[in-house]
Amino acid sequence: MLMTDLIAKKRDGGELSGDEIRFMIDGYVRGKISDYQMSAMCMAIYFRGMTDQETLDLTLAMMHSGDVVDLSSIKGIKADKHSTGGVGDKTSLILCPMVAACGLRVAKMSGRGLGHTGGTLDKLESFPGYNISIGEKRFLDNVNRIGIAIMGQTADLVPADKKLYALRDVTGTVPSIPLIVSSIMSKKLASGTDVIVLDVKCGSGAFMKTEAQAHELARGLTRIGKLAGRKCAAVITDMNQPLGCAVGNALEVKEAISVLRGETKGDLLELCLTLGSCLLIQAGYTEDEDTARKLLQEAIDSGRALKKLAELVEAQDGDAHDVYDTARLPLAPVQLEVPSESAGYVSHIECEKVGLISMHLGGGRAAKEDAIDLSVGLVLHKKVGDKVEMGESLATIHASTMEKAQAAANSLRACCTFSDTPVQRPQLIKDILFS
Ligand code: URA
Repeated sequence: MLMTDLIAKKRDGGELSGDEIRFMIDGYVRGKISDYQMSAMCMAIYFRGMTDQETLDLTLAMMHSGDVVDLSSIKGIKADKHSTGGVGDKTSLILCPMVAACGLRVAKMSGRGLGHTGGTLDKLESFPGYNISIGEKRFLDNVNRIGIAIMGQTADLVPADKKLYALRDVTGTVPSIPLIVSSIMSKKLASGTDVIVLDVKCGSGAFMKTEAQAHELARGLTRIGKLAGRKCAAVITDMNQPLGCAVGNALEVKEAISVLRGETKGDLLELCLTLGSCLLIQAGYTEDEDTARKLLQEAIDSGRALKKLAELVEAQDGDAHDVYDTARLPLAPVQLEVPSESAGYVSHIECEKVGLISMHLGGGRAAKEDAIDLSVGLVLHKKVGDKVEMGESLATIHASTMEKAQAAANSLRACCTFSDTPVQRPQLIKDILFS
């Protein structure tokens, strides 16, 4: 088989066979197929697309390019969640303990943040001592013992994706639905869980800017989940403004804890109840959403979900006291309010730019190897639809110096648009698709 022939076949709109796709992925991971040939193939896929069968074959070939986690020693139904990435998205910190408190087994491998989006691992590291590299044995033991473990992806999980994603990033071929679907689903399938819920974000702060694109991706993800024999749901959610109020690692942890304490409601809780219901329904705990939501709310009201987070932190070398006393978490030396220079109703918040403000304060990474400051970021006091008086605070900036805080405050003001007339709050949940 020759890679040149496969490139030409896809370029001319042909369908690649399973053998051809396996040859291509295997050859690429072993260094027998060059980056320039793989770039040409990615571009051909970008323009010609792939059938469901090709996307499934690509996903499975990528999944088997490295280690596949064996969760068979874990008793019970194993659950996982994935978000396509957003600003202020701390749902995993709430959802995972909440569903674990309801009896599901959460075995989750997470990633770090990059650019304007955050990552669960960085947030968890706001708990001093939290160990994201506990190894597979402790990971499995912890899920069996306390029902939850969240760690970093092992080095050899889907090596094909690591190579391919880096190549797509520099060849203009990231926004191809079959390439995104195979990238996400190969990692989810290799992680070995029975039920998966995918939070597909759409809007200015998301990877998918329009609802139509998000739908197409959600359909692709759930179709491949089903063809691969997993129960998989996708929830399409709004990312035209940050989720919740906090943006920045330790600040987001504090907000998540406040939701688990039952003190904070709103969009963040709503999303966690929706995603959690999908998992409980797919796991067969209940057939209807109302019952699922009651079970999840009960896990919060009883304190069991918060206790589960404390158990997770303790089991991964942190201190459970930090969950109950958030004053022990990282705190930036400077806090600065951002008084509004307009009055009216917030009509728009430039979501991606808010994520970038947190990044420039030191809370995120421009490049993978950058160090981050867990304490910095911002807390919004106003969101789309809220009424604002002149001089009222739009947000609190948490920064390492006053100079950085002031620059962030000016940028934040520029992110907000106001209307003289009332503005409708955006609909958070756009659609739910089950496989
Ligand atoms: N997230 C992934 O993991 N892969 C993609 O291709 C895009 C987003």
